[in-house]
Amino acid sequence: MYHKKRIVISLKDKISLNKLPSHLAVIMDGNGRWAKSKGKFRVFGHKNGVKSVREITEGCAELGIKYLTLYAFSTENWNRPKTEVSALMNLLVDTIGKELKTLTENNIKLKTIGDISKLPDNTRNALLDCIENTKDNTRMTLILALNYSSRWELVEATKSIAQKVNDGELSPENIDENTVNAHLSTAGIPDPELMIRTSGELRISNYLLWQLAYSELYFTDVMWPDFSKEHLYEALIDFQKRERRFGQTSDQISINS
Ligand code: FPP
Repeated sequence: MYHKKRIVISLKDKISLNKLPSHLAVIMDGNGRWAKSKGKFRVFGHKNGVKSVREITEGCAELGIKYLTLYAFSTENWNRPKTEVSALMNLLVDTIGKELKTLTENNIKLKTIGDISKLPDNTRNALLDCIENTKDNTRMTLILALNYSSRWELVEATKSIAQKVNDGELSPENIDENTVNAHLSTAGIPDPELMIRTSGELRISNYLLWQLAYSELYFTDVMWPDFSKEHLYEALIDFQKRERRFGQTSDQISINS
């Protein structure tokens, strides 16, 4: 009997590996609403959000994306109920402890951006320990934005530039975009070509404002705990269909490429 062979092309197969972003930034949003919709406490959402962190980190590493930045805790998040803040901090300690082995086995480096000096001692120490243990890994860098906000970062950069001017190390006329870049917490890391925000909110929320200047923005209604590798692939396929013009015209882009 003759069987017609069916070729199934997966979403992953539709991704051009030579057109991947080198840096993907994510605002993981919707944990609380996801939990509430299931009649559970918000923390249940954060716990399930960790599964998506694992899945997306793995997905990015498998594809060959070099940098993944996740907005894990903003400077504004301190305004949440104390119990939620402390649950989030404990979840971080727990997760970092559990994932160190996986990060090491997969050659992934951990880095943070934001003022981690204000985090509880055990959270900060777990992070510092993991950062130290993974510092020589080269396959991918996972960057957690923790107690981070872009305005805080820009204020800090401005302070250190001003200090250098004050100390005579730098003259104001020599300050350019490279100077600012070099004083951000992302110094040495390429700007994200793509930023994904989950849960249907259409905002940037004080996240990487300088670095996202030319990024493609992708918003999805999917809540973070439901965000899977397939959703990541959809976002990447969408990104690859876009024409990144950087202020040029479409014709200029086709001539130069
Ligand atoms: C946003 O959902 C999520 C956060 C502020 C925290 C994200 C934290 C995790 C996924 C867990 C720990 C992370 C790591 C990296 C191990 P929300 O609470 O704002 O949801 P809502 O908008 O529905 O209220």
